[in-house]
Amino acid sequence: MSAPNKSYDPVEVEALKPEEVARVTEAALAAIAAAPDLGALREVKIAHAGDRSPLALANREIGALPPQAKAEAGRRVGQARGAVNKALAARQAELEAERDARVLVEEAVDVTLPHDRVPAGARHPITTLAERIEDVFTAMGYAVAEGPEVETEWHNFDALNFPPDHPAREAQDTFFVRAPGGDRHAEDARGSSSGVVLRTHTSPVQIRSLLDREPPVYVVCPGRTFRTDELDATHTPVFHQVELLAVDEGLTMADLKGTLDHMVQALFGEDMTTRLRPNFFPFTEPSAEMDMRCYVCRGASVGNPDRPCRTCSSEGWIELGGCGMVNPRVLVACGVDPERYSGFAFGFGIERMLMFRHNVDDMRDMVEGDVRFTRPFGMEI
Ligand code: PHE
Repeated sequence: MSAPNKSYDPVEVEALKPEEVARVTEAALAAIAAAPDLGALREVKIAHAGDRSPLALANREIGALPPQAKAEAGRRVGQARGAVNKALAARQAELEAERDARVLVEEAVDVTLPHDRVPAGARHPITTLAERIEDVFTAMGYAVAEGPEVETEWHNFDALNFPPDHPAREAQDTFFVRAPGGDRHAEDARGSSSGVVLRTHTSPVQIRSLLDREPPVYVVCPGRTFRTDELDATHTPVFHQVELLAVDEGLTMADLKGTLDHMVQALFGEDMTTRLRPNFFPFTEPSAEMDMRCYVCRGASVGNPDRPCRTCSSEGWIELGGCGMVNPRVLVACGVDPERYSGFAFGFGIERMLMFRHNVDDMRDMVEGDVRFTRPFGMEI
């Protein structure tokens, strides 16, 4: 290896000659100016400022030059590369601004145009809550049973042990579709001669289930029910109930209580409890009114004026519905042997549950079908 030749300075390297540097610089500037869009500019950048561009290659030659030539060539190539980079940046900014302006125009949305889409509604919370309740029971092995909304008096009252002139019939304020005719006391009066009503409760589905199925019978029966109430904040002539019926060997009130506890725990939380208060229904004996612990105050509002509870009116309990052991007369009316089988039943209103579960103050909101009411409940399915 020989020592550097200090006397050989400057050195002629083709790529570093001023004319050559000027030529490639001009070519670069021309290509930059001519790039029509950002994609083309990217190509130009690779060709004229990339690792293998003429200026980069020229730059690589500089290192081998003797000091004086190195300084000169370095300045020349440096200035050329600076000019090219500056032009690239300027054209880049120009093309980006053009693109942004174009996108703004091309993608503009006229929000005032009439649209042709039907706005999506939401499922009604009565439906989703009823399905949730069904889920609790189907998970325990219950079947979902349904019956007609237009029902015979026999199914709605007689088979449920409402005596013909019992005031309980009036208490339910019935819509009659066909007035009672013929002998409705007759044994075989299952519809033919009895009146036809809009069912006042879902309990006739108990009857239909027992007539259709062999015990053991475990059914949950959601459905629409009707009473001649005026529509106001707390009443609606068309409402919904869920009925529960279990008929099997050896069922007791303890099974009813355990089932109710499980239901409120599944719907309102693990630590929920229920209580039963004596009541009367013709189709259950004994009968009870079922309350659940107020799931908001958990009873803490009782006798405590500092902590009033809106949900339970500071009573600590919320009344949910009626229940009891199926009256043996009902079993007999449906051809089920009351010596062998016993059962329990439970029925309650979904609107009421929706009111306290979701703080709905006015039942009319549930009836009117306004999507502004249903939408906030979401699309739970
Ligand atoms: N059907 C009764 C009502 O509408 C509720 C109920 C159902 C009571 C089942 C006892 C058993 O008030």
